Amino acid sequence: MKFKTILTSAVLATAIIGTSAQADITLRHALLGTVLDMSFAKKGGNTPAFKEFMKEGRNPYNTDEKAIKDGESLYMTGCSGCHGHEAEGKIGPGLADDYWTYPAIATDKGLFEVLFGGANGMMGPQYVNFNTDEMLKIMAWIRSIYTGKPKKAKWLKK
Ligand code: HEC
Repeated sequence: MKFKTILTSAVLATAIIGTSAQADITLRHALLGTVLDMSFAKKGGNTPAFKEFMKEGRNPYNTDEKAIKDGESLYMTGCSGCHGHEAEGKIGPGLADDYWTYPAIATDKGLFEVLFGGANGMMGPQYVNFNTDEMLKIMAWIRSIYTGKPKKAKWLKK
């Protein structure tokens, strides 16, 4: 009896996770407010971590040491040229402090939206270079070097 219940819930959970992969949250362009076209996403990024992110807009890699390390090297390849090796800012703004042109960046959803869809000028859509899983890793590294006020770190809040 009990086993059957567990089995049923497991099947149900799989079904729910399976179908919710597309969207529980709606991702929008940081400037235009239009819904982001995820069909531009590079292959290989639809990992369990990304599926989890799409449920509530929280990055599961924020507490994952290995992912943070991977994110650091991805950042060095694709972002440091414009944002600086310590995300101190160069052509693009600094990313480690708590001043954001786009205040929504204080949430993981907002940060992802700027990465995937891009913003003004030189900040092009990053789907050209990275898949969505890699973006989450880069985001986790950016969070890990945060120097701003803890109060402003909305991504840590429930
Ligand atoms: C070719 C240069 C360039 C590259 C490469 C680049 N950026 Fe940017 N980035 C910019 C510029 C310029 C801006 C300012 C755009 C704006 O204000 O709309 C910006 C803005 C941002 C913002 C918004 C900051 C804020 O204060 O709101 C984030 C976050 C960001 N970039 C992250 C990244 C990450 C992560 C990568 C690598 C995956 C990356 N960028 C790659 C130039 C670049």
